Amino acid sequence: MIIGSKFIFIKSLASTNALANRMLKETNVSEGTVIYTDYQSKGKGQPGNRWESEAGKNLLLTIILFPSFIDPEDQFIISMTISLGISDFLKKYIEDCRIKWPNDIYAGNGKICGILILNSIMGKRIENSVVGIGLNINQEKFIKHIPNPVSLKLLTGHEYNTTICLGELTTEIDKRYEQLLSGMSAEIRQEYISSLYRYNEWSPYKTSSGILTGRIISVTDSGRLLIEDQNSVLHEFSFREIEFMQS
Ligand code: BTN
Repeated sequence: MIIGSKFIFIKSLASTNALANRMLKETNVSEGTVIYTDYQSKGKGQPGNRWESEAGKNLLLTIILFPSFIDPEDQFIISMTISLGISDFLKKYIEDCRIKWPNDIYAGNGKICGILILNSIMGKRIENSVVGIGLNINQEKFIKHIPNPVSLKLLTGHEYNTTICLGELTTEIDKRYEQLLSGMSAEIRQEYISSLYRYNEWSPYKTSSGILTGRIISVTDSGRLLIEDQNSVLHEFSFREIEFMQS
């Protein structure tokens, strides 16, 4: 077991990702270390966003990895691996769980989890990967500006023990990471693509050149989304170049 070989709990801090970055600079951290907290005062979301989470209700964690065996050009495979691990965990409790490219996990049409991965590249090598995960477990009310949030409790009506959830989650992510280490990236990629939210479904997307009706058919090795339009023309997008619209 790599992920979860060491757990560090801090009751309240600015951001588990920020602490992970500091520890990587200042100390010797072992691969698979999980830093987790009950409350973040400056939780980081995707660039320009914050991650808000009610104290003690959800999972807020960062996993430190040293995936030097991955070519920086293929770094999106780390995101694929982590996303599958999170969805393996969620599928124990809910049926309709999908990976919303590139950083979210959806339950139905609601966001249950956000992922923020920062890979530090040195030359041709990934030096380390800081994997931040915010997973909504018991929170029932969310501040207004967050679009369509959900939690396990909202979906199932049950209250969960977050410590047990953390153990189960890291076990599932570890299994996927071991799969990646054993050279099964093609399988991971295939499973990731078929687990995508709106995979192969005709849906509208907002792009810089207008509204595109198309279906997701794949994600490239570099992590770009491939959409086929109704004339069988392929379009490639990176994050922020495309927005999912309500179908
Ligand atoms: C998103 O914008 O959807 C990504 C959210 C990532 C939030 C997690 S919570 C734990 C870790 N520490 C942070 O500051 N952010 C990530």
